[in-house]
Amino acid sequence: MSLVTMSAVDFACRMPKAELHVHIEGTLEPDLAFALARRNGLTLPFRDEEALRAAKNFTDLQSFLDLYYACADALRTAEDFSDLMLAYLARAQADHVVHAEIFFDPQTHTARGVPLAVVIEGLDAGRREGKKRWGITTRLILCFLRHLSEEDALSTLKSAEPFLASIDGFGLDSSERDHPPRKFERAFARVRALGRPGVAHAGEEGPPAYISEALDLLKAVRIDHGVRAVEDPRVLRRLAAEGIALTVCPLSNVRLCVYPTMADHVLPQLLEAGVKVTVNSDDPAYFGGYMNDNIRALQAAFDFDIPTWALLGRNSIEASWAAPADKKRWLLALENLLRS
Ligand code: ADE
Ligand code: ZN
Repeated sequence: MSLVTMSAVDFACRMPKAELHVHIEGTLEPDLAFALARRNGLTLPFRDEEALRAAKNFTDLQSFLDLYYACADALRTAEDFSDLMLAYLARAQADHVVHAEIFFDPQTHTARGVPLAVVIEGLDAGRREGKKRWGITTRLILCFLRHLSEEDALSTLKSAEPFLASIDGFGLDSSERDHPPRKFERAFARVRALGRPGVAHAGEEGPPAYISEALDLLKAVRIDHGVRAVEDPRVLRRLAAEGIALTVCPLSNVRLCVYPTMADHVLPQLLEAGVKVTVNSDDPAYFGGYMNDNIRALQAAFDFDIPTWALLGRNSIEASWAAPADKKRWLLALENLLRS
């Protein structure tokens, strides 16, 4: 297919790209949740898959998180985490995601008595198999739950130190309202002392000031979501001037009622302001789709041209923590597709 016949959405779906914002627990599809629950002799608080699907009618971030933490209870063994990772990577590579940086929430699991070693062993096994089958590369980002205390984050970090070889960075997620980045300043100082980069969810439901705090106090190298930057021109200008990437999750923002419809999404405004925007799926099992579903939903709302999609694809690769030689190869492949 040449560019003459390739539509912008075909180009975007087929281009090599990186996913920089996906929570592995948010990729747990209802069929796998029930299969794991059966395997582990557990009952989920839903009659069947249909009842679980029907519960995905969210009014805000917290209404989603309540369901997300309930379903995560199905995950018990290293095999469960491996199966979950491999199922996500299968879907990602089918969408031409060549590299994925994947969040996990250890506190959700250790609080239920699942040891961190089990979680990491399983995630690593799934990543190894995904690399072997499809060549897809990954990074793992340990997220602190911001509704819990900084002491809890610091003790989680301490228990993660033996596994640092498997952990490429640290993040901050869960309920944003009333849990500002400044609450975790010491935890992120320790992250830096351990030689790992930090990222933070900020400006999803929280105000633009949380984006500034994440940059100034946590020294975040990327901002997850960050869409509310559009409400403060100084924050917007700063993101553009400093080349800070935003990991934007369009379907998530609509499903969590940050915007009433996709046509109301601020992604075009962020691009217009020169911000390094990337497109991501966040919790695809809960929000109606994976990478290319997000692309198709954006295209239906905004009808972007091929150069805009190429920019979004390049941004994702450039803002990733992939090896320089891999980045170079994927950027070249993207340019070749552009010229084909
Ligand atoms: N954990 C999983 N998805 C999240 C999101 N969109 N915001 C905050 N925490 C999350
Ligand atoms: Zn997220």
